[in-house]
Amino acid sequence: MSVHSKTRRITVPEIRARKGGDPIVSLTSYHAHTARYVDPYVDFLLVGDSLGMVMYGMETTLGVTLDMMIAHGAAVMRGTERALVVVDMPFGSYEESPPEAFRNAVRIIKETGCAAVKMEGGARIADTIHYLTERGIPVMAHIGLTPQSTNVMGGFKTQGREESEWAAIEADAQAVADAGAFAVVVEGVAEPLAARITRQIEIPTIGIGASPVCDGQILVLEDMLGLSPKPPKFVREFASLGAQIAGAAEAYADAVRNRSFPAQEHTYGMKKAK
Ligand code: KIV
Repeated sequence: MSVHSKTRRITVPEIRARKGGDPIVSLTSYHAHTARYVDPYVDFLLVGDSLGMVMYGMETTLGVTLDMMIAHGAAVMRGTERALVVVDMPFGSYEESPPEAFRNAVRIIKETGCAAVKMEGGARIADTIHYLTERGIPVMAHIGLTPQSTNVMGGFKTQGREESEWAAIEADAQAVADAGAFAVVVEGVAEPLAARITRQIEIPTIGIGASPVCDGQILVLEDMLGLSPKPPKFVREFASLGAQIAGAAEAYADAVRNRSFPAQEHTYGMKKAK
């Protein structure tokens, strides 16, 4: 009899049930091997369309395609076994109509194996969230600073600095919760407003540049690893991998130039994963 026990992935209902409980830990992820390192420590991984900037050097997320999201989503699924994986719907893949959003979300789910999709917007996409969740596709919403609207917003700006802006953002939060989203990313929102929304709605809020009292937090993995050239101001770097990579490249270049490379014959097998 096999004693092999496969790790079970965290599920959408388990994340939903964490409202008001232990903080939900999440990171973005675009890449199989780095996903494997962080998998044991997070509740969910978001294959965010921020990959346009982080992986492809784009200025914004607007150029990211559905095929890019699917390729990276599948890679993160292959690299992980425990975390719930959520894949972003890129700009232009869900705004036109609920049926179009459904077709594209189905491609993401079928071709990556992930369990849920994320889409940006509040009240304006509530019908789409309802349409998808009624048809078996869990949706994480994303309100406040929504990077796909950068041209409308005139850049990346904190939302809700003025109290006069609060009612619209609170209405967005309530609309996505009522439509059936299982959680909502609250990005770049003034702290007192993020705290109010967290108290008001019945689904978990996942903060990024928002408030520590959100039900969970997310950061772009490369930002918190110290790999991003210009991380947002609110980011705390938990490592300095950029400097370590440069140091390793320098040491490698020295080893090659000094011909102090280890002997290579008969060494082509793989080392065991650490
Ligand atoms: O695309 C992304 O990485 C995101 C997070 C910043 C929440 O949406």
